[in-house]
Amino acid sequence: MIKLPGLIDPHVHMREPGATHKEDFDSGTSAALAGGFTIVLTMPNTKPPIFDAETLDMALDAASLKARCDYAQFVGAGPNNAEKAASLADKAAGLKMYLDSTFGELRLDDMTLWQPHFEKYPKQYPIVAHSESRSMAAAILFAAIYDRPVHIAHISLKEEVQIIKAAKERGIKVTCEVCPHHLFLYEDLTGFGNLSGLTAGRKEVRPRLAEKEDVDTLWANLNVIDCFATDHAPHTIEEKDSDNPPPGFPGLETALPLLLTAVSESRLTIPDLIEKMYTNPKKIFNLPDQPETWVEVDENAIYEIKAEDQFTRCNWTPFESWQVKGKVRKVVLRGETAFEDGKILVNAGYGKNIRS
Ligand code: DOR
Ligand code: ZN
Repeated sequence: MIKLPGLIDPHVHMREPGATHKEDFDSGTSAALAGGFTIVLTMPNTKPPIFDAETLDMALDAASLKARCDYAQFVGAGPNNAEKAASLADKAAGLKMYLDSTFGELRLDDMTLWQPHFEKYPKQYPIVAHSESRSMAAAILFAAIYDRPVHIAHISLKEEVQIIKAAKERGIKVTCEVCPHHLFLYEDLTGFGNLSGLTAGRKEVRPRLAEKEDVDTLWANLNVIDCFATDHAPHTIEEKDSDNPPPGFPGLETALPLLLTAVSESRLTIPDLIEKMYTNPKKIFNLPDQPETWVEVDENAIYEIKAEDQFTRCNWTPFESWQVKGKVRKVVLRGETAFEDGKILVNAGYGKNIRS
């Protein structure tokens, strides 16, 4: 048995308000606990998007009634809410800027719209940028110009990790995260698991799955990568198999088993895991201690990932039938056993807003 700290996932989509048929704070935070996470930072591309005090309260009210693990909610950067968003910084996980197109309405096309956010958002809280390739380089340039931190969400490409490495070497305040699906799946989804039968819609995700060379470069540069984040983005299996499949993969319940499997294959160490799933996200996002909180994993348990065993409401996983080694047995959150042997043991509402 290995004991880990309560893990932090800095990138989760809970779909509340507006799309609770995909997920809500109850099902999503249950999935988090089952995956060994005790804090989730939730994204603002909901319906409506979270971009002012009223919409932030909509999400936080739902979370306070339903969440079973601790959480904080991001505010989204819109074309004209820089001042408002900055005024909410103490109550928010951070500011999320969508600089490339993805699911939802939040999107800043024009760099003149980035400027006020980089100027105004308090420097002690991070700006998280969904920015791929050249827009990522531009976001890093903004961090340098405004001398403030920026955290790059879900990097996936060789060029991205190389530019981040160079920027860090020059003292620019940039950090980044990578998602398990970008570490374990290639463009053709012929990674080292059984992926036959995965339909085109189920492959849709932003950033797109990259090529083997990109994946290999991410693994070779793990020291440049600050955090593992799931980008848990549940869409129902019916939506994924429809003619217009939305992008996104669920990930809360598969991240730790996949990464523990990598540990068992000596591709990663337990100290790497703790650094990228606890120490670094805690520091980057300025998160408080959770007293009497830990996760017990059986590092020798071998089993197959099955969507039917998961708490997420979306009812599928891109890792169906993958054999993994390493299972979450127990999660203790603030002195209470919150999860044990497949069962959630704390009530909806037990989770706390760590920014309140
Ligand atoms: O694949 C994705 N799905 N990428 C994102 O950036 C958004 C997410 C979602 O909200 O579904
Ligand atoms: Zn996301």
